[in-house]
Formats: sequence, C-alpha cells, structure tokens
Amino acid sequence: MYQSHAFGAGALSTRIATREIVCDVGRVIPDVSDLDEAYGRTTARFYDAVYQHSPQVAGDLDFYRSLARESAGPVLELGCGTGRVLLAIAADGFPCTGLDASRHMLDALRAKSRFPNLRLVHAPMQRFDLGQDRFTLIFSAFRVFQHLHSVEDQLACLACVRRHLAPGGRFAFDVFAPRLARMAVTDAPEQVEGRFEHDGESVTRWARAVPDPVSQLLSVRFRYERRRGDELVGTDEASFKMRWFWRFELEHLLARAGFADVQMYGNFDKSPIAADTPAFIAVAR
Ligand SMILES: C[S@@+](CC[C@H](N)C(=O)[O-])C[C@H]1O[C@@H](n2cnc3c(N)ncnc32)[C@H](O)[C@@H]1O
Repeated sequence: MYQSHAFGAGALSTRIATREIVCDVGRVIPDVSDLDEAYGRTTARFYDAVYQHSPQVAGDLDFYRSLARESAGPVLELGCGTGRVLLAIAADGFPCTGLDASRHMLDALRAKSRFPNLRLVHAPMQRFDLGQDRFTLIFSAFRVFQHLHSVEDQLACLACVRRHLAPGGRFAFDVFAPRLARMAVTDAPEQVEGRFEHDGESVTRWARAVPDPVSQLLSVRFRYERRRGDELVGTDEASFKMRWFWRFELEHLLARAGFADVQMYGNFDKSPIAADTPAFIAVAR
C-alpha cells in the first residue's frame, strides 16, 4: 500500500495547491459546453443512485483499484465524475487526481468526501496540462473515452495521457462493445430502464438510444420522472452522444498514439474478447 498521504512536501505541495485553485475556478471550455446538458445538475443529482450498484459497472471498481495497487504510485482518473471509483483508490492512500469537465459532477464528489491525497481538476480530458506531474496509472472508467467523438479529440487525449505517464506507467480505460444488430435499430422506442428512491421521491428513468451507423455515434436521452406517492412532481432530462469503437479501431488508435504494449480484455475479470463480450477494456503502455 502506498504510504504517503500527500502529493509531496514543501514547494511541490504549494505548487499543486496553487494550481488546484486555478483549476477549480475553471475555464470556459467551448468544445465540451454540451456537458451541461449531459452531465449537468440532473445527472450529477441522480448518478450515484443509478450506477452505484448497476450491473453495467460490475467488476470495474475492483479492476481499476487493483491496477492502482500494482502501479503503487500517483493515479489520475480522466472523467472521474462523482468519484464512484476514484474515492476507493484514494481511500487506499495513493495520491489521486480526478479530472472532469463537469463542475456539477465534481461538486457532487466534493460533497461526499474529501481526502487530503485527492485533488480535483476541472478540465477537458482532450486538453489538459498538469505541469511536471507524472502518474504511474492513468485511467478512465465507465466509457468516458466514448465522449470523445472525433479522432482528433481521441488522439489529443491520448497525447495528453502519454505526456503525463511516468516511465513504465499505464493507461487503462473501457468502452462498451457494440452489438452489430443493436446498432442497426434506429427506431427503438423509449423504455423504462430503472426505478429508484431519491430524496423522498420515486424516480423512474426512461432511456432512448438512437445509433447513427455512419458517424458511429449513439444519441442517448434519459428522462427522469419524479413522483411523490402517485403524483408526478417533475421530469428532468439529460442527453448526450457516445462514439462507439470496434476492437481493432481501438488498437490502431492506441498504436497511432504511440502505445507499444496494449492488452485488450472483454470483461473486468480479464477474460479475452469474445462474441458476447460486454466491454472492450484496454491497458496500454
Ligand atoms: C459515465 S460518467 C463516468 C464517471 C466515473 N468515471 C465513473 O466511473 O463513475 C462520465 C464522466 O465523464 C465526464 N466527461 C465527459 N466528457 C469529458 C471530457 N471531454 N473531459 C473530461 N470529462 C468528461 C463527465 O462529466 C462525467 O463525469
């Protein structure tokens, strides 16, 4: 287990603290401005209730946590959200940085917990600069990389990652494995995806996903109906697009970005990619 519970002493701590304040103030980031619709107040409010125990993320926390333990050094998560995974790694004592382009998600993380060894940076993952800081593990959990729609943004992100990796450090991330048949259905109806209790309200989450096979973008809309007893008290919406990747496309992308050693898995138990694989998971150095 990592022994140090701080980023460093003296000048280094001061430098990080200063930069942290600058990052927290944030900048207007034009190309991720639609994040307020996707990861604004609505998503930040319901995110943990929806995903804390969702089968969609089964096994990912243990997977990334054990990579962090193997790497035994500073950890950076891109798109850390409300800290679902990163807080567990910070609890292990590693110096952690969580980067996200949504202030609302970062605020939700801050409201839950503060660790002296966790700092938060408000920035886009395709354009960030943490100075001289280097990480033994950089990861991006739960399909965050799919929010980068263009090859240009994907390569820009991978270049930032490479710049911030310590020698021998690894970059790990997951994307969903697209189903060919599903990606051909462009008129799927809205469906109830789940129900949960939140702040004394019963919330029903409706989902609709429309694929565009040409751009490889899946347009997703979530609608949250809130009820007290039988009375509908409000409806909130969040929508975004996700780029889907084919397995060899990802491998080419990583090679093009300069990663020489890439492991690909089909699930978080490290099983190989198969026909019914739920995810493509890459661990690259
Ligand atoms: C599905 S959530 C995943 C959160 C967290 N990694 C987890 O596993 O629970 C996606 C997160 O990625 C962030 N995100 C999306 N696009 C981003 C970008 N271009 N740069 C940084 N963060 C981004 C969102 O704000 C959101 O917090």
